[in-house]
Parts: sequence; structure tokens; C-alpha cells
Amino acid sequence: MNILLIGSGGREHALAWAMRTKSSFMRGLYVAPGNPGIFEVARYADIDINDHDQIIHFCHRLLIDLVVVGPEQPLALGLADNLRSAGIFTFGPSRAAARIESSKAFAKDLMKRYNIPTAEYRHFSSSQVQEALAYIDTFAKPPVVKADGLAAGKGVIVPTSHQEAKHAVIDMFAGAFGKAGAEVVIEEFMEGEEASVFAICDGTNFVTLAPAQDHKRISDGDTGKNTGGMGAYAPAALVTNEILNKVKERIIKPLLDGMRAEKTPFTGCLFCGLMVHHGEPRVVEFNARFGDPETQAVLSVFEGDLVRLLSSAARGEIDKSAMRTSTNGYACNVVLAAQGYPDAYKKGMLITGIEEAKAMKAKVFHAGTSYDENHALVASGGRVLGVCGTGDTLQDAIHMAYGAIPYIHYTGKTYRSDIGKKGLANKS
Ligand code: AMP
Ligand code: GLY
Repeated sequence: MNILLIGSGGREHALAWAMRTKSSFMRGLYVAPGNPGIFEVARYADIDINDHDQIIHFCHRLLIDLVVVGPEQPLALGLADNLRSAGIFTFGPSRAAARIESSKAFAKDLMKRYNIPTAEYRHFSSSQVQEALAYIDTFAKPPVVKADGLAAGKGVIVPTSHQEAKHAVIDMFAGAFGKAGAEVVIEEFMEGEEASVFAICDGTNFVTLAPAQDHKRISDGDTGKNTGGMGAYAPAALVTNEILNKVKERIIKPLLDGMRAEKTPFTGCLFCGLMVHHGEPRVVEFNARFGDPETQAVLSVFEGDLVRLLSSAARGEIDKSAMRTSTNGYACNVVLAAQGYPDAYKKGMLITGIEEAKAMKAKVFHAGTSYDENHALVASGGRVLGVCGTGDTLQDAIHMAYGAIPYIHYTGKTYRSDIGKKGLANKS
């Protein structure tokens, strides 16, 4: 099978690696825009990912059987719709279905219509400032304030006081997150521990991959600013089989049924961001794609044929036999970031030691890397690399990742030293 992968981050490197190594169907693998790590397993497709006609032309010319879309932006811009209209099988939801990520208000209303457990909420437009501020006072604890639209993971404020929540609303309406904040969602603060469950969906049926736990804050002990994710491990013991069954029955199934009934069936990876409290899962957010950095860990423990799984889902007939439901090992993926991330950060630092790190058996996923004019590997993003250890136990996986990290060098290398620690606590 010939596949075109869209994207350029650590998630896409993991997808490319897993499609290459965990499938007997893989033939030609192309990527756009890609990154130096992905180019080790896929060929560069010289196309502009914003030019849908150009992508379609490329797919016809190279006999592409399947397009796998990594990030949310192209989905929200309707790439999957245009590819499907041109007769090209695509793993990724339509623009209408991708609204579960691109509009938090849409996602919350959908959950409400289908009784999917989530935080109490209301949403407001900028003409309703007074109502929004008054609604904040109805909560005993300061509620969470979210910009409705895509804001690169930054549009969520978890305030420590009602006053801060009110300021957040006023700032959003004043344009702090651009158009994304023209509508705001105000919702109840949920206690609990977070987990991520990915469902591979064909519009009707689904399978879930190993549950994962992300670490969103920049510093150890979940302190400091929120980031795109500083590391993840899988499977997360926090999500017991009993909880996973609740997620399937109360969250994923009613969502897929509801979206199908509303003529916006969801085909692709449904990312369920969950809050688990006293054994009860509730939805924090849905995303319309694989998570980053969870995918690097989740696919490291995936057993089965990933291409068969994704292509059968894209064709609308998911082949559940393409994967094993139980996983044997554990994986722990630690993100190496650039100094300053998630605020302004430096680029262009020379990266060395990746081969040495790989010699320690860890996988090294490229996220924000590129080649400079001398063809030297340099940092070019906030999250630079992911170092992923595997093992029979979570402790072994953590050990492998952290054993390999010291071999990698670049100025300002920044990472958390406690990725996976929460998982060890859950195990005991
Ligand atoms: P989101 O982009 O919606 O996933 O929100 C980013 C982060 O904010 C989440 O990962 C949570 O840590 C936190 N958060 C969002 N909504 C809530 C909520 N209702 N209660 C508690 N924490 C939340
Ligand atoms: N790791 C969180 C996300 O991908 O949105």
C-alpha cells in the first residue's frame, strides 16, 4: 500500500515509524512536510499541505492508497473532505466532524445532547459579557475558562480565583486568543487525574489503543505553565479495564452514534481527554487526531498491523483483528524541549548524540528538528525530540528513556525528570 502522511511532529514520526515497522502492507511511504527523523523512514513529498489540489494531484500521480492526516489544522480546513471527494481514502475526520476539536462549544453541546459525562458548562459570545461574569459566580470553585476555537493548546485558563476567571473572560473577548476567543466556554472545575484514550473509528465502529497519561506542565511535579505535553507513558494503569469499558459505553459509543445520526460521522482517531475521579471518567476535551506526545508511547506498545487498522477504518469497515487488545510491555516517552518553551524559545542549536542514545535501545522521535545549510541537525521547534524507552515494566521503560537522554546534547536542553512517576504510584 502507498501512503501519504501529513504532518511534521513527533506524533507523525511515531506514525511513520509504526506504519513502516508494524505492517506487512506498507509499500511506499511519503510525507509532507515531514522532519529529518521521518525522512529516515519516509520519502519527502514536495507539496504544499495547504494546497489541496496539489495534494490530490500528487496522490493520483503516485497511486496513493491512503492519506493519514496527523495534525488538526488541515482537518479543520477540510483536507479530508476534499481528498474523499477526489476518491482518495483518508484517515482523518471531515471538517464538520473535526469541529469536536475546533469548537469547544460545539463539542460541549454535542456531549450534552447525548448525555456524555463532562463538566457543567455554558458558552457565551462577546455580547454576553455580563451574563458570563454572573455565571462565574454560580460556581463554588473558580470555573475553567476556554476559548472556543483552536488556540494551539493555549486557550484554556484554570484560574485560582473567581476574579481571575472573570479577567480571563474579559481578556478573551478583548482578543487575547484572536478569533478563537470570540466565544468562550465556562465550565465546572473537575477534580481527578487525567488520562488520554485514543479510539480508531470508522464512523460507526471503533477500537481503543492503550490508554496513556500525558504530562502537560513544563516542570516536575506538574508545576509551571501548560505546554503541548512534556512526556507520556502507556499503558496507564489509572485506566483500569472497568474504567475503559465505561469510556467505551458512555463516551465513545454514544458520541459516534450521535455524530452519525447528525450526518457528521467521525472517521479517524478520536482523542478522548479524560478526568478520572473515584473510578468515573468524564470528558475534559475531544481532539480529532492522535495526541502528541502520547502517540509515541501508545504506538510503541501497539501490537498488530497499523496500516491494516488505519486503512480499514478509512474505508469505513474497521478490521478489529488488525490489532491485539492486550499489550505486553510499557513505553515512556520523554520530551526534550528548547529553553524558554512554552514561551519564546531559541532555534538553530546543533543537536548531537542521537545515534548514541539509540544505541541504548531507546527510540528517538524527532519533533522540532531540521537541517541547517550545512546539513547539520538543529533544533527548530519548542519540543525538539522525544526519547522513548520500552520495557516489560513501566519502571524499565522509564529507566531506558532516562538512561538514553544524557547522550543527546544541544544548548538549553530542557526536560522533566518525572515522566511516568505518577504511573508507578498508580501501580502500587
Ligand atoms: P484542554 O485544552 O481542554 O484539554 O485543557 C487543558 C488542560 O486544562 C487540561 O489538560 C486540564 O489539565 C485542564 N482542564 C481543562 N478543563 C478542565 C476542567 N473542567 N477541570 C479541571 N481541569 C481542566
Ligand atoms: N497531548 C495533548 C494533545 O495532543 O493535545
